[in-house]
Amino acid sequence: MTLWSGRFATSMNEALWDLSESFSFDRVLYSYDIDGSMAHVRGLVHCGLLSDLEGQTLVDTLERIREEFSSGTFERAPSDEDVHMAIERRATELAGDVGAKIHTARSRNDQVATTLRLFTRDALTRIAAATVEMVDTLVSLGESNASSYLPGYTHLQRAQPVLLSHHLNAHAWSLLRDLERLLEARSRCNVSPLGAGALAGTSLPIDPSFASTELGFITTFANSMDAVSDRDFVAETLFDIALIGVHLSRMGEELVLWTSSEFAFAKLGDDFTTGSSMLPQKKNSDVAELARAKSGRLIGNLTGLLVTLKGLPLAYNRDLQEDKEPLFDSVRQVLMTLKAMTGAYRSLAFDERTASLAADDPFLVAIDLAESLVEEGVPFRQAHEMVGKLVGQSVANDVSFAIVVQNDPELSRYAHLFEPGAALTRRRSPGASGPHAMLRQAERLMEVRRALASRI
Ligand code: ARG
Repeated sequence: MTLWSGRFATSMNEALWDLSESFSFDRVLYSYDIDGSMAHVRGLVHCGLLSDLEGQTLVDTLERIREEFSSGTFERAPSDEDVHMAIERRATELAGDVGAKIHTARSRNDQVATTLRLFTRDALTRIAAATVEMVDTLVSLGESNASSYLPGYTHLQRAQPVLLSHHLNAHAWSLLRDLERLLEARSRCNVSPLGAGALAGTSLPIDPSFASTELGFITTFANSMDAVSDRDFVAETLFDIALIGVHLSRMGEELVLWTSSEFAFAKLGDDFTTGSSMLPQKKNSDVAELARAKSGRLIGNLTGLLVTLKGLPLAYNRDLQEDKEPLFDSVRQVLMTLKAMTGAYRSLAFDERTASLAADDPFLVAIDLAESLVEEGVPFRQAHEMVGKLVGQSVANDVSFAIVVQNDPELSRYAHLFEPGAALTRRRSPGASGPHAMLRQAERLMEVRRALASRI
């Protein structure tokens, strides 16, 4: 028997049941739903629709149901279509007529929206905390290899030397923007839809702001139709997660490169690598590959939901039930990936020697040579041309660029630029990759990190 069986002559066809039941995946919401129901009950007491005693009975009953779920003893009845109906059914079973009052001035439409906002608010907080941890890990890896440097690349061709900390901070900055987005999404999510009813409010004398305050929402809905049909907060969360996924994917790709024999800039710890079933010598960076791969799934979850939402007329439509699985999946996957990648970076041993050797490639000094000429008043285009010719000679004659410069009567005085690390030290403009600029950058990064982390 369903909650609406009064209206129907026959019971639901099994094929429809299988399609529409959501308890199998939305049971994870039980605790949020119970919090929402308790606040709703207190609101009903507050406006006189339930007596104090009825309210207390219901709150106690709901607490008992929470324990049944958490201890794994909750038994699903065949009629429990979703977690919301299961909890109401059980409350009525346990508390009798009082239980049957719990749904007064409430619809599953505002109930499910409330429950999902509570879940999402919490998930955003958890993801934000995991993001800060990853930022801290990148920063401290840079700090503990403070003088290490490597080539910075454009088009995956060696371009200019960069401090390892500068490189890692580039990822940290993108994660800090992600963190800011998560916190902004959380404040837009933090609006109570409870009291909107099915779509148009109710004739009963309720005060939605009461339950809203109980649940710690920042504010209460202004429009009942918007309250029950809006899933922007889910879409936005999925976007924020997908973008974190994209960032993690880029980091993953980079770790795959760095740990290859070709680059050999770094090694992952044994506890963050896998072996091969056939090739005894293999040590594979699966963690980085999986981080790279997860982004596809996270983007898919976002795309799927946007397509689900795009044609929906106001207000609630059952299509909205399809918001949950992508959200649950993305939250779980991104938390898992953040944790694994944080661990991977913690285990990373950077090979300073190989990386600095690559960064001291004489060609990377070409721009310093041109800029030195600029400092003497040579127009940049002309300097570029002069140095370019010497690069051409070096390539054509297969002679080191450093030697070619040394042998050039006009430019031999710049030979010191080829000393190991010299080009790196010269990168001192604000935000640049060298050690002087790094001091200010590190301060700025920590300021932003502190300000954002204090809002979690
Ligand atoms: N399980 C449903 C969902 O997640 C609950 C809402 C059902 N509301 C309704 N009017 N049929 O969306």
